[in-house]
Amino acid sequence: MSITHQNEPASNELRETLTSTEPNCLRTMTTSMAVLSKSAGSYHFTPEGRKLADFTSGVLVANIGHNPKRWWKKVWKLMSLDDIDDGDGYHEGVTLTSYNAVTPVEMEANRRLLANMQAQPGGKRMEQVLWAASGSEAIQKGLWASMARREGQDIILATRGGFHGKKGLAGAVTGSETDSERDPRVRFISFPKEECSTLQKRKEPIDLAPYRAELEALKEEFGDRICCLITEPYLGGGGSYHPHKEYMQMLESFCRENDIIFILDEIQANFGRTGSMYAFTEYGVEPDLVALGKGMGNGIPVDAIVGRSDLFGAMGYGAGSDTWSAHPLGCASVIATLDEFEQTDVMEQAAGLSKIIEESLVRLCELPAISAVRGEGTVWGIECTAVGEHSAEEVAHELVRRCYVGNDEGKAIHLLGPLAGKVVRIAPPLTMDHGEARDYFQVLHEIAAGLS
Ligand SMILES: Cc1ncc(COP(=O)(O)O)c(C=O)c1O
Repeated sequence: MSITHQNEPASNELRETLTSTEPNCLRTMTTSMAVLSKSAGSYHFTPEGRKLADFTSGVLVANIGHNPKRWWKKVWKLMSLDDIDDGDGYHEGVTLTSYNAVTPVEMEANRRLLANMQAQPGGKRMEQVLWAASGSEAIQKGLWASMARREGQDIILATRGGFHGKKGLAGAVTGSETDSERDPRVRFISFPKEECSTLQKRKEPIDLAPYRAELEALKEEFGDRICCLITEPYLGGGGSYHPHKEYMQMLESFCRENDIIFILDEIQANFGRTGSMYAFTEYGVEPDLVALGKGMGNGIPVDAIVGRSDLFGAMGYGAGSDTWSAHPLGCASVIATLDEFEQTDVMEQAAGLSKIIEESLVRLCELPAISAVRGEGTVWGIECTAVGEHSAEEVAHELVRRCYVGNDEGKAIHLLGPLAGKVVRIAPPLTMDHGEARDYFQVLHEIAAGLS
């Protein structure tokens, strides 16, 4: 049975088609199942013409907003598609099939991305780009490169509760040892969830000794077999846990001391989310490999693992190749997105928005349905709690549904299904207008208050 909403005949019809033509597994569960016919800036529009403020940026993708005109024009120009006439025949545009060949747009994207990363504090090791067609694939390629370095180095350390994708090795480093069918090459280490479970706790000093001891024990057990350590700057899919900088720096030090490759998965953090262009700057670390995706193409699918050329050099011809990686359209979107970050004040806008989000969300903690809020920059999580007979999970799903339906004035908010069961993520485009953001956070408060 498909999800339906009142007064949405066109959307409901499409939801029914969805149920009969696609398996449920293609989506994660959400009570809104929004049908989005158009998007502009910080808003989506349903087929009925209803406007939804986007508090998700897709899934942390549209960092500079949906369909920015200047950005699109740049993408078309880079693809030589800006002057297609109305006639029949063929247009001389950039090729869409560059497999086993090279395009100028790809080389320009490499040059621009590497220059941008190397210019950041901590970006010194960003020497080469290994493009990928999804985030999972970027992770997989980064882990392959790490394992190819020296024979017999097959042990991967990953932070427990992380999310790096569902496929292949990316799935193997996601979650924890209690999940079924674990890959024996992956060993999990603790991520400080308790110490950063509230904004207040994150401000208190952290005792790193137990975390360090865990690493030392693994070193003792596996010695030189450990090839790499992979972590996220913050646990995103794991429920929005943003660690102390010292924790990240301790992981990096352990890697340096033991010649272990330090991989930072910035697929959802990159391009401004945490308040810096890349989270490695925010956390004061210098990774060997950084996984990029989502916001990097602002909606065009493009991902990459970027870093030390000696690591990629251990992989021979073809070991990292596939049909779509380094697709010219993806490369063009990266250049156009970099232009916006380098030539406009998007990061200042994001800093202002971050303050508004923090102030607004902290107020939510007064409500019976909300137990905590956590976040940084423009990526936050609202943890719901049980109310009456309703579990925390039910409350979170209901919050998403009610926000989609909107308040009495018809103001509605698009949210994604909860993370880790009960955490609703707030991650609007970095460019959301500040006045409108305040208005919609008021709507969110009103709706969350109604859950009690
Ligand atoms: C931190 C992180 N890594 C990896 C991935 C996987 O990316 P993809 O869904 O493109 O495979 C995601 C996706 O949400 C992510 O948030």
